[in-house]
Amino acid sequence: MLAIVSLCLVLLVCSWLSRRTRKDAPKGSPPGPKPLPVFGSLHLLGQHDTPFEAFTALSKTYGDIFSISLGTTPCVVVNNFDLIKEVLITKGGDFGGRPDFLRFHKLFGGDRNNSLALCDWSELQKTRRSIARTYCSPRFTSLQFDSVNRVGAEEVNTFLAEIQKLPINTPVDIKPIVLKACANMFTQYMCSTSFSYNDKEFQKIVRYFDEIFWEINQGYAVDFLPWLLPFYHGHMNKLTKWSTEIRQFILSRIIDNHRATLDFNSPPRDFTDALLMHLEEDPNMNWEHIIFELEDFIGGHSAIGNLVMVTLAAIVKYPEVGDSIRKEIDAVTGNMRGPNLFDKAAMPYTESVLWETLRKASSPIVPHVASVDTEICGFSIPKGTMVFINNYELNVGKEYWNKPDEFLPERFLSPAGNVVKPTHFIPFSTGKRTCIGQRLVQCFSFVILATLLQKFDVSGGDDVAARPGCVAVPPDCFKLILTPRNPPVISSD
Ligand code: HEM
Ligand SMILES: *[C@@H]1O[C@H](CO)[C@@H](O)[C@H](O)[C@H]1NC(C)=O
Repeated sequence: MLAIVSLCLVLLVCSWLSRRTRKDAPKGSPPGPKPLPVFGSLHLLGQHDTPFEAFTALSKTYGDIFSISLGTTPCVVVNNFDLIKEVLITKGGDFGGRPDFLRFHKLFGGDRNNSLALCDWSELQKTRRSIARTYCSPRFTSLQFDSVNRVGAEEVNTFLAEIQKLPINTPVDIKPIVLKACANMFTQYMCSTSFSYNDKEFQKIVRYFDEIFWEINQGYAVDFLPWLLPFYHGHMNKLTKWSTEIRQFILSRIIDNHRATLDFNSPPRDFTDALLMHLEEDPNMNWEHIIFELEDFIGGHSAIGNLVMVTLAAIVKYPEVGDSIRKEIDAVTGNMRGPNLFDKAAMPYTESVLWETLRKASSPIVPHVASVDTEICGFSIPKGTMVFINNYELNVGKEYWNKPDEFLPERFLSPAGNVVKPTHFIPFSTGKRTCIGQRLVQCFSFVILATLLQKFDVSGGDDVAARPGCVAVPPDCFKLILTPRNPPVISSD
């Protein structure tokens, strides 16, 4: 016994000495809590509302970069902007992988590499991102931007007509209508196809997309403890069912018709045409790639619908925010017409409400995974290490923001009244895997929000709340009370 204790002591002293004497040597692994057998440090995450709050708490003990085992998966958490930039930008190429969660495979036909957001980095991903860029990141003054504006302006008419059918001054469930509007904006813009809000199949698919968006925003123990799988059998089957039915809908209700009318001698009519044309030109792309890419991007609409709901929840909680948006709408449109995308530049407050919502919601960045043995800040990071980007800290940390707990859209306005975002504010991440849909998010959420608030005051009960560290609200979420604005808005459209 004594021998073992003294051996340990000797080893301890030696390792301490070697650390002291070899200053420039690699620092080894980042420090971190001692993992439990089997579970690792999963129990530490359960003690907070969101895993990111747990990460911030742990960083107070172990520093801005620390190691943690989740189940048996080795992970590293980076908690300040310099470290985050090192992972996402300077060494972006070393951290191009994604977690290998079973759920992710189930959602994408058995292989998460089919997904744009959940695949490992590859040449194929580079191609897929570049096809999507023109359409999913449309530049101001491009043909695509005009199309986004036109599609948005048309769809909000249908959207308003649906909303106006709802009873007023009583709590109503508007999320399905918001989601259907977003879905039609996407399918019309990307596939030149839209659907009736009464279409049962369309309703079902919109619901499944929303379920998936909620699902992707949740963490499950089975992600890190795959031996729990037998308990998740029903859940996994549900995921497969959702994605299979979505696939069938997209093939039969969108692609078949598009393919029949595709003209290779004309410029692509939309994103779907561009994808189908690319299939003919590029031997490295196959039919599956095309369908999954389209499916993935159409699915982006759920993120926007949820963001709109989270923004409305903030407006219910801070009515003065809604009043300020309305002042801006009234000034810009004279209430003679509905707001459109070209009004956005003149409505910086409304835009800043969306940024402040994104800041407070602090949507997590999908974890990255080291694809090679590499380093962060001199610490060695072996291939396969999962890296969590603690953007929650960037969004709500006292070092980064004045009064971070308050909802203050004005923080994004310069004294001259322009929208300015601090460089450490990266709600869509940064680097080679940055969000491709961010321009569409800014465009479509703006038109829906401005259209709704031009016509209605929005209020609600105590249940109207968003969850921290999440831009998703549950598929069945809070209800809102819509009150037509008094005096009624004159509209010429
Ligand atoms: C509330 C709205 C949204 C937020 C807050 C958001 C945020 C993000 C974030 C944080 C990432 C991870 C980037 C990284 O890992 O470094 C991401 C990836 C991605 N987003 Fe979004 N996003 C939103 C909406 C959308 C929409 C509407 C689309 C599609 C039109 C979209 C398409 C993508 C794609 C394809 C990726 C994966 C990129 C890659 O891994 O290479 N997003 N998004
Ligand atoms: C996913 O893609 C990466 C990069 O091309 C590759 O290394 C990996 O083996 C693929 N995974 C599967 C399950 O095919």
